[in-house]
Amino acid sequence: MAPEPILSVREVEVQFGGVQAVAGCTFVVAPGQIVGLIGPNGAGKTSLFNAISGIVRHYHGEIRIAGRSLRGLPAHRVAALGLSRTFQNIRLFRSLSVADNVLVGEHRRIRENLLDSAFHTPRFHREEGAALSRVENLLEFVGLQHLDPQALPGSLPYGDQRRLEIARALASQPRLLLLDEPAAGMNTVESRSLGILVRSIRERGVTVLLVEHDMRVVMSVCDRVVVLNFGRLIAEGAPSEIQTNPEVIAAYLGGPPG
Ligand SMILES: Nc1ncnc2c1ncn2[C@@H]1O[C@H](COP(=O)(O)OP(=O)(O)OP(=O)(O)O)[C@@H](O)[C@H]1O
Ligand SMILES: [Mg+2]
Repeated sequence: MAPEPILSVREVEVQFGGVQAVAGCTFVVAPGQIVGLIGPNGAGKTSLFNAISGIVRHYHGEIRIAGRSLRGLPAHRVAALGLSRTFQNIRLFRSLSVADNVLVGEHRRIRENLLDSAFHTPRFHREEGAALSRVENLLEFVGLQHLDPQALPGSLPYGDQRRLEIARALASQPRLLLLDEPAAGMNTVESRSLGILVRSIRERGVTVLLVEHDMRVVMSVCDRVVVLNFGRLIAEGAPSEIQTNPEVIAAYLGGPPG
């Protein structure tokens, strides 16, 4: 018997006013997979991510994480079920250090530690050291060991900012990670090494749903690919099947090289 999907999306529709952003999508993601979600600009990929992560709460259909329906849950409750994500438009806190940007990702711990940190208790100092070592481990894992944890992220190269967002997303120790165009703005060398990072995230036991326009990354790291066009799922399958699917080529892959 196939394992229970970690993510199940059934007949999901997302509407913004008169715009049907997602028009009835059904697919599942098995645990341990890297699944690509691709399609032309405006196909509804980010809208679907927003529905899955609880940012958009008004949708039709059903989304489940490990069998648990997400209906009505706000983003922080969805996160508590083991989901984490990055954003198409990088969302780092510019006034917080690199280390604090990562620690913000550990949302479960924040409230517990608020009093200790306000009063700088001995426990606070002990935990501060432990927190810094968790940050350093994560920075090293995403390839940012060269960064000063106390630096501000605003001046970092673009690719480093994307990796820092991934470190923050991993700080909550998710089971399922949604990456929205992590290779956007990267050159060929950077995006290839990003692909290697995505694989190593999966090796940690994290399932990955990847929105990405860089087809070299998608085709080299994904086990399966789901294709959206105008909010509809037009194909799903192994990368080799997707690359030769006439409907996908006509809707997306056959466009100008990019
Ligand atoms: N908050 C919103 N309000 C109104 N319309 C929206 C909103 N978010 C998305 N849309 C519309 O929904 C459709 C799908 O957009 P979405 O951002 O999900 O596409 P996408 O596949 O992520 O595209 P891209 O590859 O360009 O990121 C588009 O027509 C977009 O203009
Ligand atoms: Mg998008």
